[in-house]
Amino acid sequence: MFFKAFQSLTLIATAYAATLQQFTGNFGSNPTGVGFYYYKPATLQNPPPVLVAAHECTGSAEGYFGETTWSSLADQYGFYVIYPNAPTAGGCWDVHTNATLTHNGGGDSLGIVSMVRYAISNWGVDSTRAFVSGTSSGAMMTNVLIGAYPDVFAGGAAFSGVPFGCFAGPNAWNTQCALGELIMTPQQWGQLVFNAYPGYTGPRPSMQVWHGTADTTLYPQNYYEEVGIPNNTYGGIRINLIVKQWTDVLGYSQTPTSVEVNNPQAEYNRSIYGPKFQAILAQGVGHTVPVHETDTLAFFGLGSGSTSSSPTTTPPPVTSPTSSPPSGGTVAHWGQCGGIGWTGGTVCQAPYTCQAANAYYSQCL
Ligand SMILES: *[C@@H]1O[C@H](CO)[C@@H](O)[C@H](O)[C@H]1NC(C)=O
Ligand SMILES: *[C@@H]1O[C@H](CO)[C@@H](O)[C@H](O)[C@H]1NC(C)=O
Ligand SMILES: *[C@@H]1O[C@H](CO)[C@@H](O)[C@H](O)[C@H]1NC(C)=O
Repeated sequence: MFFKAFQSLTLIATAYAATLQQFTGNFGSNPTGVGFYYYKPATLQNPPPVLVAAHECTGSAEGYFGETTWSSLADQYGFYVIYPNAPTAGGCWDVHTNATLTHNGGGDSLGIVSMVRYAISNWGVDSTRAFVSGTSSGAMMTNVLIGAYPDVFAGGAAFSGVPFGCFAGPNAWNTQCALGELIMTPQQWGQLVFNAYPGYTGPRPSMQVWHGTADTTLYPQNYYEEVGIPNNTYGGIRINLIVKQWTDVLGYSQTPTSVEVNNPQAEYNRSIYGPKFQAILAQGVGHTVPVHETDTLAFFGLGSGSTSSSPTTTPPPVTSPTSSPPSGGTVAHWGQCGGIGWTGGTVCQAPYTCQAANAYYSQCL
């Protein structure tokens, strides 16, 4: 009897920890009626970051909550996850209208941004640590949000998407783009992003792009257009390392500073163009590349994982809801020691050294 009661309490606790919640109140401009779902872990960083996780076509907020491990990582590392739900039948995101491709112009992108702005204003979310990741249509939306709202997001990770503006036009599906036949110069791709928010001069978000060589839904040319390699590397066609949209936006060289073979796993190559941009091409992988949550988490600086060639490590989970960054002095193993906006300590305890994961996050490793 006692055991049974204990068991059901445990079940209640587990159920509580795994609850996806729907926000039904007013959260700001949401012209297309995007659904607002979110996950709040029991323990949060102070102040907490937020990650938007955008589902694929035919998907849903609830489905993506189940398909990805973002919520359990949120439990471990103390960040909010927002799961927007596409308003149209079929569940694809609007990544083609002028409104969605324009800063504060409307469309699905504005509804999602309103959720993030609401979380910053009402949940105490760190305005410098909002991130977005998504799969397929959600990866296209990731490119849209990073392009049109560089002031809102610190980073994005797109699993099998297309460049910002590639789907632009009257129809929800753009065959020319999907087939990888929309070819433009890096400057033209970059200009689409600059046009989305004219006059913006602030910092640009970090971007991580994943694509499979065997993708026949969104041909890998899209990877090449996103990252600027215009020709396929497999099937005997030579690789031409011209960096396009995001290298143009970020002002990086069109040649990667390094290519890490079999990273983060066999048959995946990671090309790094600078601290804010990297692209991972997966040999033989179709549509879509599985979400690599811990890798993206490390790229964003939301935790630690296996970016670059450093050994895979597991930092301790967040233990206190009120833990605040150290105000100076030596930083312990795993602690943050730098990055844009960081005001805490920058010197690591011996024998650890402060290593940059990206522009926003350095860690004592
Ligand atoms: C695109 O949308 C923006 C914001 O609504 C508007 O200012 C602009 O004129 C539109 N451009 C075109 C080409 O329709
Ligand atoms: C590379 O791609 C461009 C654009 O699609 C094409 O014009 C060119 O012929 C390709 N080069 C090779 C070697 O395949
Ligand atoms: C990864 O790089 C290796 C070595 O250059 C190459 O043989 C392989 O084809 C590349 N794989 C992909 C998916 O680009």
